[in-house]
Amino acid sequence: MIPPACPTPLQVAAARGQLASTLVRMCGIVGYVGPQQAGDVVMEGLRRLEYRGYDSAGVAIVADGELHQRKKAGKLANLSAELSSAPLPASTIGMGHTRWATHGKPNDRNAHPHTSHTGHVAVVHNGIIENFAGLRDELESRGVEMSSDTDTEVVAHLVDESYERVPADHPTRLREAVRRVCNLLEGAFTLVITHAAEPDTIIGARRNSPLVAGVGDGEYFLGSDVAAFIAQTREAIELGQDQICELHRERGITVTTFDGGAVEPVHYTIDWDDAAAEKGGYDWFMLKEIAEQPAVVADTIRGRLTDTGGIALDEVRLSDQDFRDITKIFIIACGTSSYAGMIAKYAIEHWTRIPCEVELASEFRYRDPVLDRSTLVIAISQSGETMDTLMALRHAKSQHAKILGICNTVGSTIPRESDAVLYTRAGVEIAVASTKAFLAQIVACYLIALHLASVRGVKWGDEVAAIVDQIRSMPDAVERVLDTMEPVRTLARTELADVQQMLFLGRHVGYPIALEGALKLKELAYLHAEGFAAGELKHGPIALVSEGTPVVVVCPSPLGRDSLHSKVVSNIQEVRARGARTIVIAEEGDELVTPYADHVIRVPRCPVLLAPLVTAVPLQVLACEIAAAKGLDVDQPRNLAKSVTVE
Ligand code: M6R
Repeated sequence: MIPPACPTPLQVAAARGQLASTLVRMCGIVGYVGPQQAGDVVMEGLRRLEYRGYDSAGVAIVADGELHQRKKAGKLANLSAELSSAPLPASTIGMGHTRWATHGKPNDRNAHPHTSHTGHVAVVHNGIIENFAGLRDELESRGVEMSSDTDTEVVAHLVDESYERVPADHPTRLREAVRRVCNLLEGAFTLVITHAAEPDTIIGARRNSPLVAGVGDGEYFLGSDVAAFIAQTREAIELGQDQICELHRERGITVTTFDGGAVEPVHYTIDWDDAAAEKGGYDWFMLKEIAEQPAVVADTIRGRLTDTGGIALDEVRLSDQDFRDITKIFIIACGTSSYAGMIAKYAIEHWTRIPCEVELASEFRYRDPVLDRSTLVIAISQSGETMDTLMALRHAKSQHAKILGICNTVGSTIPRESDAVLYTRAGVEIAVASTKAFLAQIVACYLIALHLASVRGVKWGDEVAAIVDQIRSMPDAVERVLDTMEPVRTLARTELADVQQMLFLGRHVGYPIALEGALKLKELAYLHAEGFAAGELKHGPIALVSEGTPVVVVCPSPLGRDSLHSKVVSNIQEVRARGARTIVIAEEGDELVTPYADHVIRVPRCPVLLAPLVTAVPLQVLACEIAAAKGLDVDQPRNLAKSVTVE
């Protein structure tokens, strides 16, 4: 019997109203010690991490035995302006933070860093200190006054007090002070901490929240992800759960557990190109990332087919026998990644005959899913840090299911906690709206499905190889779509920029693409956009259609499965009869659909199951162009963040 999910301390606290003023966040964090101007290095890191949150930003440095800080609500540009009018003094140590708030106002007062009452300690934080209310009460009973509404501030005061209690001749006094405080904290947190009396030391700590360290030549970095320091060094260190990392100008990097035990750091090389974190001449990162998709699809396949027709998984802690023993598959993911999972379901069930269910990670563990040792759970995540997916993964693990991660971020938490991993090789994705990572996820799912089919003897090696060859032709197909996007841009700018709502229809693998098209439009252009299974239309949603309503239809190949094409053509006629303006994504040469389409967007002919790789692209372009035409920030849409590290 699986116990019902117990409320976490956070839920209990929320129920008691203790979190009313708490600021929960998932943010970008940077730390630096080294010979460069720390303020500049930190600001450059924040610029590259701004996609993680852009409600407020702040920076702190230590100079001449004093902490100096600047912080500002709003985008990083506001902080830059503040620094121009009030520059920071020269320093070789610094930290910074860019914030995405879920509770409480994103104002100057609540922006990070937060400092202790003495002004000696500065802290930036990602996550939530669940027991902050009790800690705050204790601090206040000792006469400490709070100057923000945040849970983070208690950490600054506690570290300050703890530092005073560690003997002054302790060789690693700040690290020891932080270690003691970490053991008092409950919840999820990444912390970066500095002390005015320690101009050569910066400390990072993590529990259930991401943090990586970078190793340069006599300089050291901390970041929520490697994008923070990718321009400076390619050498990184993975930091594990409940670990503290000390960056010291002379001693270098030392990693310990919260108990003080030594940890041998795991170094790895970042293979992302620094240019990936630059726009490269495009107006938006999203445009650049859309354009990179042919290469991303090719990279995700490259070198992965073994002699026996199997797939070379990047990190495999599962045997072929484990794969043979699987009787059921669950795919868990959120947002766009969940739509990749929906597409995977069609491929997995068709190629392997294993039952497969796709579940939103945020719902999964709360409905008591039936899992056992013969269940494979595939967790799909671009960031590898999405808390909903991570918690669903942990639930599946606790039920002894095997976990396979499909992830884009090497060394992130989801792959580290999975039994096997297939990395999508999309490179760093900066735009908040996912594009190239989505296509890479779809390809990775195909490879997993083929691996399962091969290992379980459902398909021969040559059959697998034939499908892999078809996948190999997809980068060219995606390129051809990209080459023909001008009419889509024109349509977006001339006819669609002012519409109030848009509907998206599809069947079979076209259905998740319709959902993805609607999500892209919602998040980028703030439009009411809905995706539907085209067959469901007549069961209610068709009431949304009125004169002029734009309806985008993902039309399957006329050569495809059974009578899907004719069914979709009927659906197009149904909405058209009610006044819809139809925009149809159709295969080259499909003239059957032309009479019913106000606009046809052509995509190359390709096998039915692979079609999402081409049909997704015009919808990405459409959403991007509509948002740009409306004068919106394409890369950083309002209210969103790239990595959703809270539940
Ligand atoms: O990093 P993940 O793939 O786990 O993220 C999942 C979703 O948060 C993400 O796909 C989100 O829906 C994007 N904004 C979509 O463009």
